[in-house]
Amino acid sequence: MKAEGLAARPPMGWNSWNTFGPHINERLIFETADRMVDEGYLEAGYEYLVIDDCWSLKERDANGRLVADPEKFPHGMKAVAAYVHAKGLKFGMYSCAGTLTCAGYPASFDHEFIDAETFAEWGVDFLKYDFCYFPRTADCKTHYRRIAMALKACRRPILLSACNWGVEEPWTWMQGAGAQMYRSTGDINESFRSIMDIADSQEPNLAYNGPYCWNDMDMLVVGMYGKGNVAFTGGCTDAEYRTHFGLWCLFSVPLMMGADLRDLRAESKALLLNKELIAIDQDPEARAPYRLWDEKDGRRSYCKHLSDGTYVLAYFNPSEQDAQVNSNFEDAGLQFSAGYALELTDVFTGEVIRRTEYYNPIVPSHDCRIYKARLVRR
Ligand code: GLA
Repeated sequence: MKAEGLAARPPMGWNSWNTFGPHINERLIFETADRMVDEGYLEAGYEYLVIDDCWSLKERDANGRLVADPEKFPHGMKAVAAYVHAKGLKFGMYSCAGTLTCAGYPASFDHEFIDAETFAEWGVDFLKYDFCYFPRTADCKTHYRRIAMALKACRRPILLSACNWGVEEPWTWMQGAGAQMYRSTGDINESFRSIMDIADSQEPNLAYNGPYCWNDMDMLVVGMYGKGNVAFTGGCTDAEYRTHFGLWCLFSVPLMMGADLRDLRAESKALLLNKELIAIDQDPEARAPYRLWDEKDGRRSYCKHLSDGTYVLAYFNPSEQDAQVNSNFEDAGLQFSAGYALELTDVFTGEVIRRTEYYNPIVPSHDCRIYKARLVRR
């Protein structure tokens, strides 16, 4: 176990579920691993490559062990892990706290220790642990504590990505249970509504989010454009992806990509690799942003403190019209008489502007404006 612990920063990676659902196999994983390295995702911080549900046979073997489906993974999971590791990536897999996974494959209820051993033997570095088919008579907290303990018993650092969809307010206890992240909502789908619902529901819980245990607002849908397993509502626009990625980064939560990296448009790739946004997400202090201003139609501006003494000022317009989004710097604590202005650098364009007292940009419908802000003498 690393002395400093796992997940000092929000975990970053890729997960198979959003695009591929049950249609996974080792070729997809190998090709995704290649892309993650060759196209700069690993370098940008995306290190975990995670296989979600539907990887196993429907029955355990004679020793009670989970078995990888030999049609999907003909070389076995150890070989998949070895390929992923040889690329410099970390390898993630999936099981469930209930008796079956959500897609009906065998899961780890009362098999926690033997399954943790199997994952450790295969070389797993990350375990997403879901919540379907969890017996009503069993205690949720006990079973998440148990899998955390079973993973630790393996003496291999395995990040526990708990996924109980917000049941029993995991932000209040999952950190104590030993997990490094906890899914706090139901499943994302590729729609602007889903993105905004998740963000709005979790904003009040961000004070609990922080180093070593992160609020997982679900895998990203950036770049899916209506294709794939959770893209059943027609897909999102680039403006909506900016808002999605911008909110996840502003909130300092895990960034797990969900699109097909072998077929990603340049705009989405640039967004997912945006260095400024990733640095905001990964800021060591992971402070929650607070609202400077908001309206009933969802328009809002935020300020977030960063560890280098700068700030983020972010303006979102989820309304249906292009509209002004306001901010009065007085509400961030900056009184005019102090003699400072804010120098704002647009994280998307690099454009630099200087403002005193307020900034009220016109933001296109469903889009955002995000700036790194620095105090400068007037
Ligand atoms: C649940 C989870 C999803 C995904 C599926 C797999 O719905 O919340 O993220 O893992 O199960 O079946």
